[in-house]
Amino acid sequence: MFVKLVVWLCFLSIILSQVSGLCSEQTDCGSCTQASEGLEVCCWNATKNSCLPSLLGVCHIGGTRLSYNCPTELPKFVYTDDFGRSKALPYIAAAYGTTSTEAQQCLTNTLPGARVYRQYFASPCANGTCSATLSYSMYDQAIVVSFRGAEGEGQFLQAATDLLNDEKLPFPTGGNVYHVYRNAFYTFWNEVGLEKGIKYLKNLYPSYEFWAFGHSLGSGMASLTSSYVVKSGLFSSEKVKMVTTGQTRVGDIKYAKAHDNLVPYTYRIVNINDMITKLPTKSYPDLEDSYHSRFEVWYPNGMVKGSKFIICNQAEQSSCSASSNDTMLPVHNSYFNVSINTWVGTGCT
Ligand SMILES: *[C@@H]1O[C@H](CO)[C@@H](O)[C@H](O)[C@H]1NC(C)=O
Ligand SMILES: *[C@@H]1O[C@H](CO)[C@@H](O)[C@H](O)[C@H]1NC(C)=O
Ligand SMILES: *[C@@H]1O[C@H](CO)[C@@H](O)[C@H](O)[C@H]1NC(C)=O
Ligand SMILES: *[C@@H]1O[C@H](CO)[C@@H](O)[C@H](O)[C@H]1NC(C)=O
Repeated sequence: MFVKLVVWLCFLSIILSQVSGLCSEQTDCGSCTQASEGLEVCCWNATKNSCLPSLLGVCHIGGTRLSYNCPTELPKFVYTDDFGRSKALPYIAAAYGTTSTEAQQCLTNTLPGARVYRQYFASPCANGTCSATLSYSMYDQAIVVSFRGAEGEGQFLQAATDLLNDEKLPFPTGGNVYHVYRNAFYTFWNEVGLEKGIKYLKNLYPSYEFWAFGHSLGSGMASLTSSYVVKSGLFSSEKVKMVTTGQTRVGDIKYAKAHDNLVPYTYRIVNINDMITKLPTKSYPDLEDSYHSRFEVWYPNGMVKGSKFIICNQAEQSSCSASSNDTMLPVHNSYFNVSINTWVGTGCT
């Protein structure tokens, strides 16, 4: 009886493998992630450029069976260190200003022609207050929203705890996003006037681009805001750019895909092994419940001027920051070699 069963299983697996094709015959990621071999799924190893069978249906670290995670061509707007360092950084740092005047001082010293329009404070937000700064620049022809990260350890801990425990809820873009981000977004958008402010500037400067920047907790809000302005028809995709630092996962893989479709010019910068960017942690890399969007920009050796960086062409690439140990918390607030949350205190000089 047992022998018969084994023979039958072997037979079944041969049939299945003939129907689906062997993993090793697949020469590109797209077809690899659709293929299976007997009872095993196939996993694409982008480092090796090869398709291998999984073990018990789960890909080993370094392999993926998600077509969304296949290597992708970079968008027309390619990230440069200069854009990150001389545009995204000052706007993010200015968002830590406690008043518009303080935020403006930071921009005046770093970006000629950039003007703060208004700051928005949302409370309660992850047990504290969240803040966004809305600016515009004739020089760059852009309307810019930047979101600061958590202020103080209490808010930071609460945000991390919420992320780890929290349920996700649907977002109009498609997919589900973490409650902490969704709540904060709607408070900014509907209750404290961010929508009104953006529409006001858009009316004054209809041809301007829309840039969304953020750090840490603020990165999630930059992600939702940039997706939302395209989804709601306020800006077209080609007009929107998003750059974040220290971004956590924002939602599930459906949201990540929706975000990338709506906002193709989107980069999330990771300094060395910033552990916040690995939250919420996952039991295995292909878990779809919590998934990063593209494109990671990894600075493996820190971010002093001239540092090497890699633009990763997979959404969650095992050879980018995922390959480094998450043991050095202090790098989270140091981006582009400045203390991103306190730089505004010295006027960003
Ligand atoms: C993927 O390829 C790299 C480089 O050859 C190798 O080190 C790694 O173990 C491979 N991963 C899997 C899951 O096959
Ligand atoms: C959130 O705020 C409450 C009241 O201020 C405080 O008791 C609690 O410890 C805070 N939670 C965290 C995680 O800091
Ligand atoms: C990561 O940590 C493990 C265990 O502490 C260690 O064996 C490994 O060498 C570390 N890898 C890197 C790249 O630092
Ligand atoms: C900037 O880089 C220098 C040289 O590596 C380092 O000593 C310093 O701590 C860095 N500062 C920040 C805020 O990252």
